[in-house]
Amino acid sequence: MKIEKAIDFFDEELVRAGISNSRFVLRLLCREILGLDDSIIVRGSDCELSGDYWEKLRESIKRLVAGEPIDYVIGYRDSNGIRLKLDRSVLIPRPETEELIELVLDGESRHRIFADIATGSGIIACSLAKRLPDSKVYASDISPEALSLARQNALANGINSIIFLQGDNLTPVEPYLKEIEVIVSNPPYIKTGLLGSLESNVREYEPMLALDGGEDGLHFYRSFFSLLPEGKKVYMEIAEYAVDELSKLSENLVGYSYKFERDFYGLYRFMILYPV
Ligand SMILES: C[S@@+](CC[C@H](N)C(=O)[O-])C[C@H]1O[C@@H](n2cnc3c(N)ncnc32)[C@H](O)[C@@H]1O
Repeated sequence: MKIEKAIDFFDEELVRAGISNSRFVLRLLCREILGLDDSIIVRGSDCELSGDYWEKLRESIKRLVAGEPIDYVIGYRDSNGIRLKLDRSVLIPRPETEELIELVLDGESRHRIFADIATGSGIIACSLAKRLPDSKVYASDISPEALSLARQNALANGINSIIFLQGDNLTPVEPYLKEIEVIVSNPPYIKTGLLGSLESNVREYEPMLALDGGEDGLHFYRSFFSLLPEGKKVYMEIAEYAVDELSKLSENLVGYSYKFERDFYGLYRFMILYPV
């Protein structure tokens, strides 16, 4: 079948499924999954689409129509000049987390030893390691599958300065805490009771382990604060509704002060702890 005809055929399927920007989505799939150049995808191309390519495209469209997020279908996401392979063992990195990385880079680029706790795809660790070439980053996650993907992402992007460790919360980096200067984390922070109200493509496809922050959304922060030694700079992503509860939780933290920063939507999204 000619590409033009195939595009029209699949376009109708996407439109029927209520997927907006269907042409854009198709162009993206043809480019990223089939490796076709934009110029031969545009309307009017009379190139033939081989059976193999047809099957691959059909399979991707099926997944999209079923509600799977496009980042999983394509299988990677570009961020900060880094190509991150993605699968359902890790959360799809969000723009807010890219903002968190910029906050850390703005405030802490004089430091050299970082930890990224709950690294997932490795977006934070890889970005810091790449943007601060003479740095060392400890990256940990409780999920061995996530950690394996993060490790692959570092390797694929030529990053060799990350030490990957598996385990709960701050525990895996405990032996290195003395040298770690800055700790960054985007932990699971959604209240269990609110998980049901997430968009269905998040709820059904992204790992609950990455989202579920426990009954009050604070499980991770509670044990993090109990394990945190004095004297570190800490940058954490937070739920926009958690400011009061996190302030209360921090009352028992010895040697720290804290502030909250808003994201580009104007919501409180980041908590920064600093030694006093
Ligand atoms: C919100 S995702 C963040 C992933 C990545 N850092 C990002 O910003 O895209 C949270 C991550 O925390 C991990 N996780 C959940 N509970 C954990 C725990 N108790 N200790 C360490 N990691 C945990 C999950 O496996 C998941 O990869």
